[in-house]
Amino acid sequence: MRNPIIVALDLPTAEAAFALAERVAPAVGAFKIGKELFTAAGPDIVRRVRATGAAVFLDLKFHDIPNTVAKAVAVATRLDVQMLTVHASGGSAMLRAAEQAAQKTAAELGRPAPLVLGVTVLTSSDADTLRETGVTAGVTEQVERLARLAVAAGVRGLVCSPLEIGLLRGCLPRAVQLVTPGIRTGTEPADDQRRTLSPRAALAAGADWLVIGRPIYAAPDPRAAAEGILASLG
Ligand code: C5P
Repeated sequence: MRNPIIVALDLPTAEAAFALAERVAPAVGAFKIGKELFTAAGPDIVRRVRATGAAVFLDLKFHDIPNTVAKAVAVATRLDVQMLTVHASGGSAMLRAAEQAAQKTAAELGRPAPLVLGVTVLTSSDADTLRETGVTAGVTEQVERLARLAVAAGVRGLVCSPLEIGLLRGCLPRAVQLVTPGIRTGTEPADDQRRTLSPRAALAAGADWLVIGRPIYAAPDPRAAAEGILASLG
């Protein structure tokens, strides 16, 4: 079985992120580089983390006109990331442009295309947040609508909360990859995560990849924490 653990490198500097990546790389499948670290450290941190041999998930949640998103996805593909995110609310033309840019650029390079992941409704949003932006649907309805839109546009994966895995597995083709944050083992604080599942339960519910931040990087021994989570997957 491939290692489904993606460690979120939610650290403010390249030095801190790279030190963690080097330490835990043998025990995990990929690293997630998000807006904070990328804004601080730029594409160089992507290259350095890739050099550990681990896959990279570039979580910049692109949302712009299709041409701009396509160009950003092409650059990320040339950087050799294995996963990246776009907002599904950008609409089908933007989603298609992102997927096509990933496929075309990867084909030119003779590499597999990175997995373009659609982000539906952020877990920080509720029905009021949707309403104030003109969306009258409830959160669940909007998650399902955006997930279907993304998949119909050719996107091969989605980011979803643990509590959305069942909903999405029930309405999407099984080949769609689900990437799930909000993972807690039960031995550490939930922090600001309100809806969590254990790593094993999230996989059993149908997740393909687990995004795990603080339970690994804030542990006294991050490598041991990652190895413990991997062992718990059975
Ligand atoms: O530290 P923790 O395990 O909570 O980190 C989870 C990671 O997943 C963070 O990078 C966070 O931004 C991200 N994430 C999340 N919930 C979402 C989407 C992304 O926690 N709905």
